[in-house]
Amino acid sequence: MAQRTLARYLTEEQRSKGVITGDLKFLIEIVSRACQAISIAIGKGGLGGVLGEAGSDNVQGEAQKKLDVLSNDILLDANEWGGHLAAMASEEMDLPHLVPHRYPQGEYLLTFDPLDGSSNIDVNVSIGTIFSVLKCPEGADLSTPEAAEAAFLQPGTAQVAAGYAVYGPTTLLVLTVGDGVAVFTLDREQGQFILTQENVQIPADTKEFAINMANQRFWEAPVQRYVTEMQAGKEGPLGKDYNMRWVASMVADVHRIMTRGGIFMYPLDSKLKAQGGKLRLMYEANPMAMLIEQAGGAATTGRQRILDIQPERLHQRVPVILGSKNEVDRVTGYHAN
Ligand code: AHG
Ligand code: MN
Ligand code: MN
Repeated sequence: MAQRTLARYLTEEQRSKGVITGDLKFLIEIVSRACQAISIAIGKGGLGGVLGEAGSDNVQGEAQKKLDVLSNDILLDANEWGGHLAAMASEEMDLPHLVPHRYPQGEYLLTFDPLDGSSNIDVNVSIGTIFSVLKCPEGADLSTPEAAEAAFLQPGTAQVAAGYAVYGPTTLLVLTVGDGVAVFTLDREQGQFILTQENVQIPADTKEFAINMANQRFWEAPVQRYVTEMQAGKEGPLGKDYNMRWVASMVADVHRIMTRGGIFMYPLDSKLKAQGGKLRLMYEANPMAMLIEQAGGAATTGRQRILDIQPERLHQRVPVILGSKNEVDRVTGYHAN
């Protein structure tokens, strides 16, 4: 049987099922090509002169790595001329990037974290790209980047597609267009993403958790209780032994959960209270929450379903608890007590 390339998969979603439009198909293909280009740049490592600091800060005051800036430029360049986008927004840019007037305008908005897991770039550990696609509201004011921000402030339930690329031992693209989750593997010789898994399902129960334990003393009581119970193992109230993993690249931690279940937490803590959390809603939490729910898992802040949050700011941060449904429901329930 012929290999199912990303393009062919998207055509099937478009033609026979009517899940996506032609423009959305084109948009996702272009994002996937940008991810291939990022994968090639990352693969060069020290030979390509792409490692290390860029010498600048992003809007959130974080030091930018050369690959953060390069990946952002690759995604902007690939997407601005295609005619399928109205505007883009990124972790690395203070304000939305409007499609220049010399190019045709389209009906979609794209947000992305061009390079997730920046602290892992220079140590050769898996990193990734996260993206989310929204429809641009009719009549949205796109006259200036400042005015355009309002068009993006839609809850995660409005996403029409979400995905991530993991640049690991293999480069994968994990995608949802609201019709389940599919995994594509980059065939480097062919330069194509090939479908390798469809209808991904996350087991409802797990024995594996991911959290940065160094922040333990800052957590709120419900997360303290849950992690203490997991650490108590077989003899504790949960009655089983747990294992812990923390890659510190959200894409890699989420991909492990997509593959074999687990729970990932970057909860609110006293250190993060003023900024609302660590991870960003529009291009980290929302796309990952859509993917996780589409694979049968759950994603909350502890107090609310992530996809129901009405965003107030483009770079808003939120607490994130996601993964195997029964575990996410348990710790979310602890927040209600
Ligand atoms: P980014 O590199 O895009 O800024 O995101 C890093 C995020 C996320 O990928 C990861 O889960 C988390 O930060 C790691 O945080 P710690 O440094 O606290 O482990
Ligand atoms: Mn990130
Ligand atoms: Mn990033």
